[in-house]
Amino acid sequence: MITKFNHVAIVVPDLNAAKNKYKEVLGANVSEISNYIEHGVSVVFVELENTKIELMHPYGENSPISKFLENNKNGSIHHICIEVKDIKKAVEKLKLNGVRILGDETPKKGAHNKPVVFLHPKDFYGTLIELEQE
Ligand code: CO
Repeated sequence: MITKFNHVAIVVPDLNAAKNKYKEVLGANVSEISNYIEHGVSVVFVELENTKIELMHPYGENSPISKFLENNKNGSIHHICIEVKDIKKAVEKLKLNGVRILGDETPKKGAHNKPVVFLHPKDFYGTLIELEQE
């Protein structure tokens, strides 16, 4: 069902500082900051040869990651993203196996404009998993 690793997302307290640190200290290829109003996040993409890291910061009033940053003031890994071939089939199989899907269980367009769902971290060893259709 799962195929490729897509990204790891890290919530950071200062997106500009984090962007510069990845660029200057680690010599990484970093994107400009993109604001996703509908997702309530600002994101910097750190491009690696085989994958990417997404640095995230809350955007707007009701960001879904505000609480997370409050609880992790220095930042922390927020989720990992793995690709699947068919996200609807994946959701069906997960539900049959008692895995909870966050929200209303319907795949939504994510930051890469592809359908995504998030799996309940309590059902996957304390890790929030984003599944994205390839
Ligand atoms: Co993500």
